[in-house]
Amino acid sequence: MTDRVVLVTGAAQGLGATIARRFHAVGYRVALGDVHADAARQLARALSADGSRAIALALDVCEKSDFEAARDAILTVWQRVDVLVNNAGRAQVVPVMDVSAEQFGRAVDVNLRSVLFGWQVFGRHFGAHGGGRIVNVASLAGQNGGTATGAHYAASKAGVLNLTKVFARDLAARGVTVNAVSPGPMDLPAVHDSVPADTLRKLVAGIPAGRLGNADFVADVAVLLAAEHAWFTTGACWDVNGGLFMR
Ligand SMILES: NC(=O)c1ccc[n+]([C@@H]2O[C@H](COP(=O)([O-])OP(=O)(O)OC[C@H]3O[C@@H](n4cnc5c(N)ncnc54)[C@H](O)[C@@H]3O)[C@@H](O)[C@H]2O)c1
Repeated sequence: MTDRVVLVTGAAQGLGATIARRFHAVGYRVALGDVHADAARQLARALSADGSRAIALALDVCEKSDFEAARDAILTVWQRVDVLVNNAGRAQVVPVMDVSAEQFGRAVDVNLRSVLFGWQVFGRHFGAHGGGRIVNVASLAGQNGGTATGAHYAASKAGVLNLTKVFARDLAARGVTVNAVSPGPMDLPAVHDSVPADTLRKLVAGIPAGRLGNADFVADVAVLLAAEHAWFTTGACWDVNGGLFMR
């Protein structure tokens, strides 16, 4: 058990839920933020029936005021917050010539603007309170342009990797670290539900490791980057892509 507190965005399902479970398992108190507050609440209750080690928060990452409300709610309940994991994201498969202005804007709002708001609210708080950790869930698509995920998604995730460096430099001297993890295609519902079976078979065949990625390991990476003694790693990106992209 630790006193440390983490907010995971998009924690109601998929990778975010896996990350929230992992932080809880290693002893963190966990706030699960999601637009689907009921699903987040269900998971929070499963992790901590009395709410002492896990709470759910209604949080739309497109709204800076929601981040502020989440910060205030966490401080009211636990009087501290140490880690923000910007996991909430949205992928949409659309041929590049057909991406509409609305679709492009929505991808940027959910995947990128959210990371700026998280930084402005939690980075500021961490900078003023002796330090903190931010872990941004980017994507292989942000590094190689993506395969099946859509140009708007790939571009927004490239922006996440860039902002990670900008933020990391900004408050490094105040003990705030900002790092990213870039998963390739994971063995998760988001992949199985959105990629047609035949395309998925071809996709997997093209992965040097020969299989989809393991969300539990991505969660372990997030926990590692969030550790108290991880203060010398900042502005970095940990690739988890089965060998699809090496640098
Ligand atoms: N699944 C993969 O293979 C993969 C690969 C690379 C990167 N990623 C990234 O991992 C993260 C999680 O992906 P996933 O596969 O678990 O997706 P998912 O769709 O299963 O889960 C996303 C979660 O984010 C929440 N969410 C969506 N919009 C939100 C908003 N505006 N505010 C708050 N919450 C919101 C959803 O309700 C959901 O709980 C995303 O950032 C995604 O881009 C996933």
